[in-house]
Amino acid sequence: MNTVSIRLPVKITLFGEHAVVYNKPAIASTIPVFMNVTGRRLNDEKLVVKFHNANVLIKGIVLDRLSNSYTLVPDDVSVSRFTSYIVTGLEICEDELKVSRGGYEINIESTLPMGAGLGTSAAISVGTIAVCISLNYSHNFEDPYIKRMIALLAWKTERRVQGAASPMDTFTITYGGIRYIKPWIPEAEIIVPPRHFNIVIGYTPKRYTTADLVRSVKNLKSKEEYLLNMLLDITERVVEEAKNAIANNDIEKLGILMNINHGILESLGVVSLEHSNIVKTLIAAGALGAKTSGAGGGGAFIALARDREHAALLKNVAEALGAKVVALELYEMGFTINYNKME
Ligand code: MEV
Repeated sequence: MNTVSIRLPVKITLFGEHAVVYNKPAIASTIPVFMNVTGRRLNDEKLVVKFHNANVLIKGIVLDRLSNSYTLVPDDVSVSRFTSYIVTGLEICEDELKVSRGGYEINIESTLPMGAGLGTSAAISVGTIAVCISLNYSHNFEDPYIKRMIALLAWKTERRVQGAASPMDTFTITYGGIRYIKPWIPEAEIIVPPRHFNIVIGYTPKRYTTADLVRSVKNLKSKEEYLLNMLLDITERVVEEAKNAIANNDIEKLGILMNINHGILESLGVVSLEHSNIVKTLIAAGALGAKTSGAGGGGAFIALARDREHAALLKNVAEALGAKVVALELYEMGFTINYNKME
């Protein structure tokens, strides 16, 4: 039976989260933290999903006192968060390829909790679509047509599961590197920085789903349409200036832009108390800039350091405040495939 394994970097948003849902540009990047989605076809129409290290919680254990065998009772929220993207992704892919519903075994390997704010759901969507396309259609993922198909179908998966989603996370994980996202096309233009950044990337537990946070911004926008439109316009301007600052390695300016973007996210009401504290403390510790990254409600944050040693110091500061730091640099690539044909 053929198996296919997709190695997926997760991502952070550098600038423009939430505004990108309203068709504004944003900048995101993959980071060197990986998930694996591995799949193979099964002969009957069953979906078997196995989690490895993936922080799927159990609610309880039912033990048979006579045989001593036991059954695990999963935490529905935790399981459905993982499986809804897999089930929906397979359906979308099968419909697109006009193949009937089939049986699959999908293995998810991740050390990150789902909803860390690092694009784990997008990684599962891209991984599931890539597995399905590879097993049913083509595994020539260097072909730009196939790659775009994966990005588009993964985006459709996120939209269907979450109700609303921009193409930012799925396109960034598909193509990799620092990407200027144009949701109106949709397209992910590469930005190549002349030098590598010293950036601290961490997360705290995320208390709300991305769908909840996108909905809360939508509610605020319906109440304060004019002011929210102005905030979205300012975010767009921040993103345009950040694009140039990245290309010119103007890190002082990038730091200022991060702080402005964070202030806008505070105004949108998506920054947690913990993050306000972490961001302020990192700035007090000399960060050039710091911000919540992604949907908010806790989740991911980033801070720009002056150099490597400074990044190590900021990492210690963030960890002392209870955050988990996962990377000190960005990554240049998107997902990769390993296809094993077995007789
Ligand atoms: C989620 O990673 C970022 C948001 O902008 C939502 C999206 O782009 O779909 C909040």
